[in-house]
Amino acid sequence: MIPERTIQEIQERLDIVEVIGAALSLKRAGRNFKGLCPFHPEKTPSFMVYPHKQFFICYGCGAGGDALTFVMRHQELEFPEAVRLLAERAGVAVPQVSGGAVSKQHPELYRAHEVAARFYHDLLVKSKEGQSARDYLTRRGVEPQMWETLCLGYAPNRWDGLLARGKEEKLSPQALEKAGLAVPREGSGGWYDRFRDRVLFPVWDARGRVIGFGGRVLDDSTPKYMNSPETELYVKGRILYGLHLASPHVREKDFCIVVEGYMDLLSPAQHGIRNVVASMGTSLTENQVQLIRKMTRHVVMVYDGDYAGEMATLRGLDLFLEAQMRVKVAALPAGFDPDSLIRKQGMEAFLKVIQESQDLFDYKLGLLRRRFDPNDLEGRVRICEEMLPTIKRVPNAIQRGEYIKRLSELLGVAETLLWSELKETKLSGSSSSWRPKGIAQPQAVKAMSAEDLLAGLIVEDPSRVAQLEGRLEPEQLKGEEVRELVSQLMNRSREKSALPRDHRELLNLFERGTGDWESRVIRWLAWADSVEEKDRALEEVIQCIQQGQRRTSLENLQASIRKAELSGDEETTAQLILQYNQLVKAPVGQAEP
Ligand code: UTP
Ligand code: MN
Repeated sequence: MIPERTIQEIQERLDIVEVIGAALSLKRAGRNFKGLCPFHPEKTPSFMVYPHKQFFICYGCGAGGDALTFVMRHQELEFPEAVRLLAERAGVAVPQVSGGAVSKQHPELYRAHEVAARFYHDLLVKSKEGQSARDYLTRRGVEPQMWETLCLGYAPNRWDGLLARGKEEKLSPQALEKAGLAVPREGSGGWYDRFRDRVLFPVWDARGRVIGFGGRVLDDSTPKYMNSPETELYVKGRILYGLHLASPHVREKDFCIVVEGYMDLLSPAQHGIRNVVASMGTSLTENQVQLIRKMTRHVVMVYDGDYAGEMATLRGLDLFLEAQMRVKVAALPAGFDPDSLIRKQGMEAFLKVIQESQDLFDYKLGLLRRRFDPNDLEGRVRICEEMLPTIKRVPNAIQRGEYIKRLSELLGVAETLLWSELKETKLSGSSSSWRPKGIAQPQAVKAMSAEDLLAGLIVEDPSRVAQLEGRLEPEQLKGEEVRELVSQLMNRSREKSALPRDHRELLNLFERGTGDWESRVIRWLAWADSVEEKDRALEEVIQCIQQGQRRTSLENLQASIRKAELSGDEETTAQLILQYNQLVKAPVGQAEP
């Protein structure tokens, strides 16, 4: 552990403009600086450095943080390494103590997953109960070596298997519930295991810590997979299955195969193909694309040969293009997924599909030609409408020219027409919906959610949490991250522990490393920075959240009243109406039932 005091000293002595300026060229822009973002390719600068608050943020890709975050990301260092590097520059001595992150967030949650993974794995490998799961995996041709590699497990057919183990390990049911592994019983109190009688695939984060599970039934019943719910550790669009295992192989081969399912990763892995990650279902997110981009710029998508797989592939193609990556598509025969192809036709068939993977242009055009008839006008228009946005996303101008030429030849539409259409084509679903349009404009603030602004104001000056006391409880906040932030700070304030003085000390309070937390904090901060009258803004935001709450409570009451009326329960109806009237009359901000 590096003492917090040391980190603060480094932060105080170093200027972020110097630190970043040493790595890239920065130009003055008003009281700030701007430059080309080193974390994503761009031609016009959207990377800003704010000296007065000592943070950077990229409005193009969302990266953000302080000088430490910058060095970590830029030089791909772990937090302690970055601290040491900057300490040297700042002339601050770092006491030699054993390593580890500065402060571990959620240690209980990680431990719950560790205990669970071990418990399930042992049951699969050795227990009598695990026989059916072992038979199932054997039937599917999953070799025991894979059980180890992927730490597969079996959740017993009991309501309190994991809960009982948790008890032995001093893990409370509340902790297991928070981890999404136990579910509270309705009414009667108590908990039960979420996963029962399923083969379990542990899901890891980028550092290889278990943060969730996917559980498959042993037969054809539904739902086929049950997954961990989103928790503080497991945010679905940010995780790729098998990422930490694939990472060295992806870097070595300089390309990444992206599949849909757990089994589609397992099967190739069993045959030695390790540069594979799975999106766990069909919808790939921008965040997942960025995870891959850190390892390589080359992707081959191998999604299931069905309609859902095709649609997901099309969406994925655009995401990869937008991130300026080279993407190809390996189209599977209808009805196959990588796992079933390998099982039925062997590894050679799979390798052949990968080798013959198509350029995204050919793939998409092929699909569209099957869907729309290029021989009639309407069909040609539709094909153009679908192809042009994709072509527009292609970063290379020569490549774009080539695609337009081929599209023109294939459809018999003049190139000049396609070019002028291309110019008109708008790219929807822009990657940066959170981007404030012109930072200092008050409209930008309105577009943001009240909770985000609240977070921003608190990040800017953590002592502001005191103003929430008695007016807002963390549980009333919808955003998980805002809630976590507010609840941690309120607890500190109630326990009379020292509150961080600014966003930098706040960053140190939570575990750093993935960059996600840092960039979120900085994004909040940038929002707050654009607000003029902070105290009034804070007041308005609190009221806005309270009113939202009150509206929801009123709506819920209305619904209950209708229900009670319909069922003819006059007593309940009267009672609910009374409650309703009281709530209507109560001044906003009063604690609600
Ligand atoms: P598939 O239905 O293609 O499953 O869903 P699969 O991986 O091929 O599994 P097997 O071969 O039938 O056993 C692909 C992925 O989508 C997610 C899982 O991550 C799955 O691996 N999924 C699917 C769910 O989360 N829930 C479901 O009910 C189904
Ligand atoms: Mn599948």
